[in-house]
Amino acid sequence: KTKAFIFDLDGVIVDTAKYHFLAWQKLAVSLGITFTHEDNEQLKGVSRVRSLELILGLGNVEATEAQKEEWLVQKNEDYLGYINKMDDSEILPDVMKVLNFLKENNQPIILGSASKNARPILEKVNILHYFDDIVDGNDVSNAKPDPEVFLVGAKKANQTNENSIVFEDSVAGVQAANVAGMISVGIGEASVLNEAKYNFNDFTEISEEFLLELINQ
Ligand code: BG6
Ligand code: MG
Repeated sequence: KTKAFIFDLDGVIVDTAKYHFLAWQKLAVSLGITFTHEDNEQLKGVSRVRSLELILGLGNVEATEAQKEEWLVQKNEDYLGYINKMDDSEILPDVMKVLNFLKENNQPIILGSASKNARPILEKVNILHYFDDIVDGNDVSNAKPDPEVFLVGAKKANQTNENSIVFEDSVAGVQAANVAGMISVGIGEASVLNEAKYNFNDFTEISEEFLLELINQ
């Protein structure tokens, strides 16, 4: 059988949350806003524009559209500074095991990410060629928990939503998969991702038997 295997990027394939944090924190400090690791958790899966709004809200900072635009550009430049230093050592444990197993079993592998930097990141860590299709923040207008990014991904793989499996580390992403009627696999703390159909702390806990079950069910 053939299914669509849709992967989120940040927090699922690579741990870029730490770089988003550093770039947002630099901006927050420059604006006199306290921004903690805990605050950063709320930004997982959330679009760049929405993330800025949340951070400005933390400090009750009001700004013009032009100022916001400037800050978004600055944040992304700082973020890209970290991304440019990435290599394949930053791929999270056993992600390659899972991708290789799916390839051997001729399953479509799709990226479904909110990031507008998805392609350069996949290139930096040398796995762009694993993906049959990429749907990212440049392709959709509605951010997770809206399911648009996954709906487009399933369509590209010519699969129904029921035959699509989504790997996600964010609550918004799990909700998006569920809303679409897809099979959600939460990667991270089960207590946080309790709406997911399946839960694993990371890919080291995902067996070939489990993947075969997903393919054949
Ligand atoms: C998501 C991240 O994958 O992409 C968010 O979890 C991030 O933290 C969002 O804000 C947008 O990413 P980018 O690279 O377009 O700023
Ligand atoms: Mg993520």
